[in-house]
Amino acid sequence: MVSSLKGRDFLSLADYSREELLFIIETARVLKERFYSGERIIPLLPGRHLAMIFEKPSTRTRISFETAMRELGGDALYLNWRDLQLGRGETIEDTARVLSRYVDGVMARVYEHDKLVRLAEYSSVPVINGLSDLLHPAQALSDIYTIMEKKGRDISRLRIVFIGDGRDNVLHSLLLGIGILGGKLVISSPKGYDPDPMVVEWFEEKAAPNGGSYEIIRDPYEAVKGADVVYTDVWVSMGQEGVREKKIRDLEPYRVTVELMKLAKPGAVFMHCLPAHRGEEVVDEVIDGPWSIVWEQAENRKHVQKAILALLIP
Ligand code: CP
Ligand code: NVA
Repeated sequence: MVSSLKGRDFLSLADYSREELLFIIETARVLKERFYSGERIIPLLPGRHLAMIFEKPSTRTRISFETAMRELGGDALYLNWRDLQLGRGETIEDTARVLSRYVDGVMARVYEHDKLVRLAEYSSVPVINGLSDLLHPAQALSDIYTIMEKKGRDISRLRIVFIGDGRDNVLHSLLLGIGILGGKLVISSPKGYDPDPMVVEWFEEKAAPNGGSYEIIRDPYEAVKGADVVYTDVWVSMGQEGVREKKIRDLEPYRVTVELMKLAKPGAVFMHCLPAHRGEEVVDEVIDGPWSIVWEQAENRKHVQKAILALLIP
């Protein structure tokens, strides 16, 4: 039994219990079903406003949160970090206090994760992580929803394999979310690209007690054998342009190719949070091929975020 989530922040999946994550997922399922049966507007948040602060670019996160708010009867404001007084040195703490007087929720995409923590500490309204260098929880929860839609609700019996950068923000959130739900994530990444120790600590505390586990297999061909889900993300995340050449060199053996996908289980799916750097982490024949569910995956961002917004915003 889940008590109300109203007023809660959504900074990390590690802040949520297994039951709470399943409750959000079930709410998303109902909202998506109602959307497809013709209820384009479900006014659960009439007159509510979401401020959306972006320190980095975005296509999916911006548009899916904005349309989600409108379809819930509310509205959303796109705020570029540089155009706010934040860009001229107004503190995050002062900004948080002021925003809380105007809006009912704040979604922010930032570089350093700590900026979100400070925003949340000084906001009296819920703060939602729209991606930080460390985590991307709205993406990962939506991806888990997509996996359940395709492969059934018991993810503990699935072989879910992430190939690429083991310190990636999306990977970190998938690791936490899948683990809290009692599943296992296989990570195939080179030496020096293992998950951030802070995330591993959260995993040990929140996921391991639920039966969650992970395994690092350096050889991508070994890792992908019998996979139900093969997931990858870009090798060079936003803000990492300075180490682009090194990362591309290191991650070169971890490209998702047709040869690799053929080792997965028949019926396996390919996932990518997008945007994709075609030809780098994945080839066209995979992302455009029979395995790919990336467009449905992108769509589900809106349905799952609707559930997050409807449940958290007072
Ligand atoms: N997947 C994702 O968050 O995409 P955007 O960067 O376009 O928001
Ligand atoms: N890891 C990528 C995810 C983009 C949605 C990045 O941070 O750029």
